Amino acid sequence: MIAAGLLVPRNRGEEVRQDLVDAGLLRSDLEIRREEESLVLPLAGNPDEVPPAWGSIVEREFRIIPRKGPARYRDLLPWSEEEKESLPRSFDVIGDIVLIRIPPELEGRKESIGGALQKFVPGARLVGLDRGVHGADRRREVEPIAGTGPWRTRHKENGVELDVDVERAYFSPRLAREHARVAEEVQSGDRVYDLCCGVGPFAITIAHLGKASEVTAVDANHEAIALLQATLARYPFAKRIHPLVARLEEFLPAAPPVERVVMNLPHEGIKYLPSVARTATPGGRLYYYEVVPRSELGRRGSTLVNALSPIGDFSLAAQRVVHPYSPASDLVMFAFARSG
Ligand SMILES: C[S@@+](CC[C@H](N)C(=O)[O-])C[C@H]1O[C@@H](n2cnc3c(N)ncnc32)[C@H](O)[C@@H]1O
Repeated sequence: MIAAGLLVPRNRGEEVRQDLVDAGLLRSDLEIRREEESLVLPLAGNPDEVPPAWGSIVEREFRIIPRKGPARYRDLLPWSEEEKESLPRSFDVIGDIVLIRIPPELEGRKESIGGALQKFVPGARLVGLDRGVHGADRRREVEPIAGTGPWRTRHKENGVELDVDVERAYFSPRLAREHARVAEEVQSGDRVYDLCCGVGPFAITIAHLGKASEVTAVDANHEAIALLQATLARYPFAKRIHPLVARLEEFLPAAPPVERVVMNLPHEGIKYLPSVARTATPGGRLYYYEVVPRSELGRRGSTLVNALSPIGDFSLAAQRVVHPYSPASDLVMFAFARSG
């Protein structure tokens, strides 16, 4: 069948495929096409949502992957094809919980959608309507639409099972590869700050890899830190992580510099950036996340480097689009290297 795809060079194919999976943008009922030096990855949803940095949008003929059961949850609903097309293609799975965002016009049919998802996702216990994250703690507003039980679950990523409560502390399964990418850069003996750590996936992945000498994980939400402590109670590498309930305003002034600093507070992080940058040693690295309009992607890195110049000598070591945030903006990671 003819469908929209993303054309990428073969050597970036696996990385971009994973990015699309994390963003819920890879269509799973169609085969990936191989074309000389390129791959074409079939797209779910609106192609405009795909960050232009990941590849070019094309139209191609794709082969349908033969399956025993339905290829899409929407095929479990007795709706017309036109009605099914109005359903979102992507959803998130956190442990045994499934979360979906639906447009307001489908709210009246939310229980049927929830039922279809619960049948479709193996092991799904509870399905929730995701109404987004709000407030300083970035807690998710959720409403149960199928299944039973609490919002608390255990979610496996990067080889570790995290204690998560979908309602009480921020967590996104779409950041799993980002947690791993940052963790893999940590060098032997590095001391690390995971600022705004939530339930601690950066800190845990870093400590699990075993190179950091210690990781201090800080969050203002005491329920996030309690969940992190519950995870740590199950793992021997826990002793290298120091969880702390504190606001950045309290923690940063007296924090001694360390080799790696991660701050993932995409909407408000900019106001803390200078005081966070002070906590990176010369020779150290700062990982900073921000939602950036696509039109500004090319110059935002150098603007930030200039803003950091009164603090020290920082250069932009890397920049990557983590996932799309809206049709016109992306969540972006900036890695700054400090030389003096
Ligand atoms: C986007 S979440 C990041 C979660 C985590 N780093 C991850 O990758 O899953 C932002 C976190 O920052 C915390 N937060 C917001 N403002 C804060 C502040 N001023 N001081 C400390 N933590 C803060 C929130 O409680 C929330 O858990």
